Amino acid sequence: MSRAEEFHPAWLPPEAFGPVGARRTLVLGDGPLAGTVREEVARAEDRYGGGASGPPYDLVLAVAGSGPLPDTAEAVVAECGPIGAEGFVAGRRDGVTVVLADDPAGLLYGFFHVVRLGERAFTGAFGPQAHRPAARLRVLDHWDNVDVHPVMGQVERGYAGGSIFWRDGAARGDLARVRAYGRLLAACGVNAITVNNVNVHATEARLPTERLDDVAAIAAALRPYGVRVHLAVAFSAPVDPGGLPTADPLDNDVRAWWAGVTAQVYAAIPDFGGYLVKADSEGQPGPFTYGRGHADGANMLAAALEPHGGVVRWRAFVYDHRQDWRDRSTDRARAAYDHFVPLDGRFSRNVILQVKHGPIDFQPREPVSPLFAAMPETRLALELQVTQEYTGQQRHVCHLAPMWSEVLRFEPEGPGGPDVATLVTGDPASSGESGGLAGVSNVGDDHYWTGHPLAQANLYAFGRLAWTPRTDSAAILDEWIGLTFAASRDLAALRRELHAIMDGSWRTYERYTSPLGVGFMVRPGDHYGPDVDGYEYTPWGTYHHADRDGVGVDRTRATGTGFTGQYPRPWSEVYESLERCPDELLLFFHHVPYGHVLRDGTTVIQHIYDTHFAGVEEVVAARSRWEGLAGAVDPDLHARVSTLFDEQLRCAREWRDQINTYFYRKSGVPDAHGRRIH
Ligand code: GCU
Repeated sequence: MSRAEEFHPAWLPPEAFGPVGARRTLVLGDGPLAGTVREEVARAEDRYGGGASGPPYDLVLAVAGSGPLPDTAEAVVAECGPIGAEGFVAGRRDGVTVVLADDPAGLLYGFFHVVRLGERAFTGAFGPQAHRPAARLRVLDHWDNVDVHPVMGQVERGYAGGSIFWRDGAARGDLARVRAYGRLLAACGVNAITVNNVNVHATEARLPTERLDDVAAIAAALRPYGVRVHLAVAFSAPVDPGGLPTADPLDNDVRAWWAGVTAQVYAAIPDFGGYLVKADSEGQPGPFTYGRGHADGANMLAAALEPHGGVVRWRAFVYDHRQDWRDRSTDRARAAYDHFVPLDGRFSRNVILQVKHGPIDFQPREPVSPLFAAMPETRLALELQVTQEYTGQQRHVCHLAPMWSEVLRFEPEGPGGPDVATLVTGDPASSGESGGLAGVSNVGDDHYWTGHPLAQANLYAFGRLAWTPRTDSAAILDEWIGLTFAASRDLAALRRELHAIMDGSWRTYERYTSPLGVGFMVRPGDHYGPDVDGYEYTPWGTYHHADRDGVGVDRTRATGTGFTGQYPRPWSEVYESLERCPDELLLFFHHVPYGHVLRDGTTVIQHIYDTHFAGVEEVVAARSRWEGLAGAVDPDLHARVSTLFDEQLRCAREWRDQINTYFYRKSGVPDAHGRRIH
């Protein structure tokens, strides 16, 4: 594509619309979302020569009840029952492809389904098959600041340039990019975003009051794509900017203040989604100040939102960040469970408790949070980090869908029990009162949206997994490749190479960084690159406890922090047992001597050396595969990724050398293969 275009089309290049654009299409439905589908179809037809002023049609896209259907479409309708919100039925017979929805949002998702299928949508016969989103809420949380924060910048943990919404204390004004973003989100199934950071600073605390016009403008740009806007709010807002003497959630004036502000928000944005709150966490204000609990705080905001149909997402990321490193009884991994499980059943129905996938903080490898098995009376949402704070910061290729799939398929109550996907999405046919999936967005104003062009695949995969959480992650990557590189002359070869580079990239990243689930050997502050002891003697509760004899955190009940006891059986026993604990989580749960033997027969220290050498070799191999793709992809994109691969390799070597050297010097055990360790 030409550099003259302001931003990369990501997974919606014009060529992806070729098969639809060459057909004769009928669109039936009313309202802005159906209008969006009409525009999409018209644009594709203009480019690819399709279009029809009357029958016969190749493609019928219809909202049920919006007009007389051609016979084939009628036959498909007759075969399917109610479809439900945002869902659609797709089928093909007698040479006609039919997509039917109960509402215009379903029509839009059905349209993008046809785009994804490409020529397959117009080949042979299939279906009719119903497609429904597993989760009602599929939201991306932008950690964007309106003002540039002195330490965190415009986007906290942002690795893709500035915010697409805000610049230097103001709304950016030009919403073309926001509209294009909404379109990309609709095409992968995301239906909500939060436009500001969970750490709510002074300017951003004013978004629901003095800055509402800016938020309403963003909401208007996203509405045609079925994407609703949420706001992260400051719990202390009744005091500042509100001017009240307190933000006590049980105070009547405070409750009235939130009710009034919320009514104003809905007056400006009728389809507003709700509030996101980080309370009493890492210095953010919360109900503890007033001697109240998380349920008091969340329910107070829920009461303000309830009349308007909004939800409050309350984050479970609460822990003591002023810990003494000498204190081995306090365990950050325990904190969310200890705070929230006693509150199960006490949250209002429109409160969603948003839980990070692991008990610590988005590390490359963590066990699944024990909260998912412990709060049956609470709507739980799974929070994933699409922005790669601890997984290469969009300078390294680290395709996260395989990790997320593992999390979603984990059965917290034991094999045969519900998996995480079920626990956060519920039964789609039921009340829809599940929590859903939330992702910390990786998007910025970078030309490629995500800094690393291949990190677009993480954004795409988040949306697709939120819609169908059990889809095979390689199949999702395959879809992304097919759409993004639809213009490729040799898509099959490109597909093969990209799979080889990306499928295993998370495990490669894991190999050259922190070993065996121990985590947090990153540089304090920016969290990029290695610093083994960087966090070891800090108050943050992120320790590895390496000494001359061994490494790892003893979280057992027998001799450690007791964290293993937060899991039900069998996991409480599996994790407790040195023999049964999965190797990849060994150092998360156990402190072991360097000579401890893993399942494959290698010692822990040798495993550390081996994986770190192997991880770097894998980066070398991936980089050379990418070099082989020169000429097969757009030259600018190729050059960008090549430059990033140079940095990834430099950084992987730095990790290898720092980790290997550190553990060699601590343990005094040489590498069995005599490789160079400093
Ligand atoms: C991480 C991250 C912070 C962020 C926090 C959160 O700790 O480093 O920048 O604020 O997560 O999820 O709230």
